[in-house]
Amino acid sequence: MIIGSLSENIKTEKRVAITPDVIKKYKSLGLNIHLSKNYALHLGINDDQYKAEGASISSEEEIILNSNAILQMNIPNDSILNKLKKNQILIGVLNPYLNKDKLNEIVSKNISCFSLELLPRITRAQSMDILSSQANLAGYKAVVDSFAFFQKAIPMMMTAAGTISAAKVLVVGAGVAGLQAIATAKRMGAVVFATDVRLASKEQVESLGGKFLTVEGAENLETEGGYAKEASDEFKKKQEDLLKDTLKKIDIVICTALIPGKKAPIIIKKDMIEGMPNGSVIYDLAAVQGGNSELTKVDEIVDIDGVKIMGESNILNKLPVSASNLYAKNIFNFIDNLFDKEKKTFEINLEDEIIEKTMVK
Ligand code: NAI
Repeated sequence: MIIGSLSENIKTEKRVAITPDVIKKYKSLGLNIHLSKNYALHLGINDDQYKAEGASISSEEEIILNSNAILQMNIPNDSILNKLKKNQILIGVLNPYLNKDKLNEIVSKNISCFSLELLPRITRAQSMDILSSQANLAGYKAVVDSFAFFQKAIPMMMTAAGTISAAKVLVVGAGVAGLQAIATAKRMGAVVFATDVRLASKEQVESLGGKFLTVEGAENLETEGGYAKEASDEFKKKQEDLLKDTLKKIDIVICTALIPGKKAPIIIKKDMIEGMPNGSVIYDLAAVQGGNSELTKVDEIVDIDGVKIMGESNILNKLPVSASNLYAKNIFNFIDNLFDKEKKTFEINLEDEIIEKTMVK
């Protein structure tokens, strides 16, 4: 059995699906790894390092022809997709909402596609949870980058020359990325506030030393799966009043609020931004889903009277080694569950919730 992985388009994606340290794990299952030439050279990992762990380096054509399963970060380009054959398996973050037509076409050729962002948030899937592993790094990096951009020191410093007060950070959305943002900002000495529509997040925010901003009288907007529901107009108005006041004294905002399958909610409105102190920074991790701030422009730094708003299409391209290391382990754990160790074949058991939910149908 052969597992193949092809180079990503490194202009837009620097992460890779297979790192040298997971190759022995695949080998122990009896799976051989075939990678394209200079697969992770841009990350400082050369082909010899992969070969030393037991991987083979092949041409793209051979990999597509011989692989039982192809593991990627993103959906491959059309010329690769068109060459896939019946009974092959494609696994990655395939973005099935955006790539519906392409995926329907390849699924109709009896190619099994699994999209890892569809993983259920259950205990057994935690080791495969790419949303968590990547969001955690994104939350950390958004704080590091916005702090680097901010023109004042973050922690309180009492010196003979005077006292510098601690920077005040607001984290909007306290899911995986938000909680890591709170932890990182606290470690750097900031005073951290956070808000979320799920009341369960209050305790988590407080356990990290953050101050939770509760929207008074609001119902808990949490689905059974632990995600956020879309807020009512009444909730939005109350949240707006609360944040408008708070933002007048906030230095850095980290936005992470998302609603699965929907455009990100706009929480930081234009007039709120105009009321923020000059020199403050907003990092919008929701930028690619439309942004939590009304004025976010993807991959641009917008300056509104001295308030800088930033948000990138792929912040993980700035931490590609760490992000690949975690992704490679997530995807290996997915394969470990998919592969039938007795029959030595891929068993698509649709009674397994993990397999059923991630399969593109
Ligand atoms: P997400 O990326 O979908 O959203 C980020 C955060 O934004 C969420 O906390 C959400 O409640 C919040 N949000 C949405 N709309 C908002 C609004 N209008 N105002 C303020 N906040 C808003 O969520 P993520 O980070 O993927 O986590 C979702 C849930 O899954 C959490 O409850 C998390 O604890 C849980 N989880 C469970 C896992 C497991 O059991 N295996 C693994 C990882 C996460």
